[in-house]
Amino acid sequence: MIGERAAGSSGRPLWRRLRLVLIALGVALALTACADEHPLDTLTEAGPDAREINDLFFPVLGVAIVVFFLVQGAVIYLAVRYRVRRKAASEAAADPGGDDLYGDDEYPEQVHGNLRLELAWTIIPTILLAVISVFALISLVELNEVSAAEDDLRVTVVGQQWWWEFQYHLDGDTSTPPDIVTANELVIPVYQQVPLEITSRDVIHSFWIPRLNGKRDAVPGRTHPWVIEADETGRFLGQCTEFCGLSHAYMRMYAVVLTPAEWEEWVQGQVIDAAPLEEGDPGYEGQEVFLANCANCHVVNGVTDVNLDGVLDGTEDYAGANSTTSALVAGAAPNLTHVASRTTFAGSIFDLYEDRAERIPYLEVAERGDLNRGDLEAWIRNAPERKANDADGARGMTAFPGLTEGDIDALVEYLMTLR
Ligand code: CUA
Repeated sequence: MIGERAAGSSGRPLWRRLRLVLIALGVALALTACADEHPLDTLTEAGPDAREINDLFFPVLGVAIVVFFLVQGAVIYLAVRYRVRRKAASEAAADPGGDDLYGDDEYPEQVHGNLRLELAWTIIPTILLAVISVFALISLVELNEVSAAEDDLRVTVVGQQWWWEFQYHLDGDTSTPPDIVTANELVIPVYQQVPLEITSRDVIHSFWIPRLNGKRDAVPGRTHPWVIEADETGRFLGQCTEFCGLSHAYMRMYAVVLTPAEWEEWVQGQVIDAAPLEEGDPGYEGQEVFLANCANCHVVNGVTDVNLDGVLDGTEDYAGANSTTSALVAGAAPNLTHVASRTTFAGSIFDLYEDRAERIPYLEVAERGDLNRGDLEAWIRNAPERKANDADGARGMTAFPGLTEGDIDALVEYLMTLR
């Protein structure tokens, strides 16, 4: 019975099912093209570390393709060559009560193992993997090599549900308070290796900017060294790659690579504090709204007055990983001192300016960009509606139902003064 059905259904239905799979594959491939605006592209490297990885990846991929076709080819060949065949009509007629497929005397010889074959398919992969592992180990060592001098720029990267903080130590000394604290956009000079120290304030995240280097975990209570280096300018998308809660997928970032001259200019702009606005200054009302509502978590250097040392060096307990009740802590939200100089917000999931596509130079967006007011105001009004949040409000930005539309307009005006 079973044999009959299998033999009878070996025609069209299988092909129809195959056709469905092929169509699904085609649609999936076509849909991947929709992601072209935010490519997490591992194949076109933009720096020496990513090149190191690709120089390992492509040869290994080549070997894997050869092995794949040899093995799958052999499997398919053997399956077809030695498949069960229906008896010829004359044979079946000669044996009316017999098996429809083949008689007992034709049953294939049953063997247990084949020493030569098994030795071959154990030894060949072992040699192959041993060779690959030598090259992989060399790459691993080279990826962890720090060539930057002790007093060169060093950046502490802090992962937090669900955004990234970057603390710049311009003199390379990470034991002193950072010179610049910014969020979501890691601005670095081209052709300069920047050593990173990666950590987390809450759960385990993973730092990854695929066009510049591989991944490194951000683990609370530990710092993992990593480096980043680019040999072309531009913006390179990054993404948290360790599942870290509801908005893990919305924990993005950019590496922004500037020329050395632009980088110097950026640093000069970032190291200065914001000046507190006086009554009558444009944005003053917004500053009042900010101080009353936002300054509990967000810092504007020179305006909000909190001691950040504990938060920045990790000694102060910020909403511990196991706690669902801890309060938010001042400083443990994106530092907004120069928020208008950035091109994205909320874990880099929204553009701060409408016309980034026109490729305004990074240093000029605050001056020349058209504010993406819709997303920014919606975010201030009710952030959890735009980006999934922790139910008890102890993670991510909370909603502000008490703010009037006038407050929000004032707030946006104030934020735009923070260049
Ligand atoms: Cu942070 Cu996933």
